[in-house]
Amino acid sequence: MRAPTVFLIAALPFVLSVLAHSRRHNARSVGFAIPISRRNEIRSEDGAVHLQRLKANTQQSIYDILVGFLNFKINTGETHPLADGLDLSHILGLSKRATGSVPLVDDSSFLWYGTIQVGTPSESFTVDFDTGSSDIFLPSTKCDTNCDGHTLYDPSASASAVDRNKTFKLRYGDGSAVSGEQYRDTVSIAHLTAYNQTLGAALTYSSGFSESNFAPDGLVGLGYQSISAYNSPPLFQTLVAQGRVTLPQFAFKLSNTGAELYLGGTNSNLYNGSFTYVPVTQQGYWQTILTGIFINDCPDFLLNQTSVIIDTGTTLIIGNENDVKAIYAKIPGSQPGPDSGLDEGFFTIPCNSGTVVSFVFGLKRFPVSWSTFNLGQVSAGSDLCVGGIIYYPSLDFLDFWIIGDVFLQNVYTVFDVGENLIGFADLASPPP
Ligand SMILES: *[C@@H]1O[C@H](CO)[C@@H](O)[C@H](O)[C@H]1NC(C)=O
Ligand SMILES: *[C@@H]1O[C@H](CO)[C@@H](O)[C@H](O)[C@H]1NC(C)=O
Ligand SMILES: *[C@@H]1O[C@H](CO)[C@@H](O)[C@H](O)[C@H]1NC(C)=O
Ligand SMILES: *[C@@H]1O[C@H](CO)[C@@H](O)[C@H](O)[C@H]1NC(C)=O
Repeated sequence: MRAPTVFLIAALPFVLSVLAHSRRHNARSVGFAIPISRRNEIRSEDGAVHLQRLKANTQQSIYDILVGFLNFKINTGETHPLADGLDLSHILGLSKRATGSVPLVDDSSFLWYGTIQVGTPSESFTVDFDTGSSDIFLPSTKCDTNCDGHTLYDPSASASAVDRNKTFKLRYGDGSAVSGEQYRDTVSIAHLTAYNQTLGAALTYSSGFSESNFAPDGLVGLGYQSISAYNSPPLFQTLVAQGRVTLPQFAFKLSNTGAELYLGGTNSNLYNGSFTYVPVTQQGYWQTILTGIFINDCPDFLLNQTSVIIDTGTTLIIGNENDVKAIYAKIPGSQPGPDSGLDEGFFTIPCNSGTVVSFVFGLKRFPVSWSTFNLGQVSAGSDLCVGGIIYYPSLDFLDFWIIGDVFLQNVYTVFDVGENLIGFADLASPPP
């Protein structure tokens, strides 16, 4: 785990200043933090929910997950356990047609983004951080479609870029694709540097990634290699393999009042108490087992032992139809969305409901505060609000849940690639 001497000497003044800094604040923090943010709240100024954007985000999340299952099959030769019995190419084909009718909206505007540096000399790019995928891509200077306005990556200007002589194509739910060439180059994040990191230089961006629809330049996936479209080690795994991090962990605080990605450990200023760890049950997504769900203090326990994917690239909590219906059946006054003009899969709840849904991981209950579960009013001034747990109607056969921001804003989450664990702790300053 020793860094090359040259690196150490070059980095020494910085390392010392950071150590001094972290000692002042907290002796236990051993990694590096980068601030992250998102462009939009789920609610608009008038209190109503951004429904179109949520729908687009949901559709994209599910599509990404299904594409990851395909990559898993290609990379490992095995069927992903959560995709057992699914005809993925058929479903993805279907989904493509079904989503063609959805108006193009800014589905990424809820995603969390920050900055990385790429190449030699290095250039800064803003990227979404997504635990639900495993690849890096950036728009190339040679990109001729939808890349205008973004910072462009020029491999020919980077002394450390190596052409892998491989192309890539990442498909999206609206039927579009991001495609280009694979390179290896130096990628730095929060002052940690990965050498020979595989990344995609896109020659074509889909309209969903054009600047007006997508503020960051590109994306960094934080999942496992088995779902990588490049079948190459993802950025964080490269940092671990090259001995750059003290601990093989990264952690997120996702909150409107200050969000952070921490690499190489956890930031103990941001959580209270200890972590509840659950095992990664399949190394692909950050997949684990949810023990169950409680509604308020009702003793009924729902969803006994369900597979879940923890996904920072998903805004809502997406479950299967029967489970989600069972949950809303326990919430007084809730109604299926179509009763008030929403799409199937969404539910309304009275805005004064105050319902608290708790997710149990291991043996610990993690409540989702009403302020995060309640997405906002159906329309401005309505006394009906939209619940943060939905199902996706045409995919009722999916037997797992995708757990996004609505839950993750309530906890401090650590992703441990050394022990293959996910840990949740109470936030030091939880949402109201
Ligand atoms: C890619 O192709 C070029 C030209 O043929 C070659 O010089 C280079 O070594 C190849 N790169 C890799 C990673 O094989
Ligand atoms: C990166 O790859 C080059 C060959 O392309 C190799 O010489 C170098 O040692 C590699 N660096 C690391 C840190 O793996
Ligand atoms: C959950 O299922 C397990 C078996 O899979 C069973 O032993 C346990 O009692 C169930 N728990 C609840 C609360 O239903
Ligand atoms: C977390 O700990 C700090 C310091 O001990 C305390 O002020 C704060 O109230 C705690 N937060 C919660 C949610 O318990």
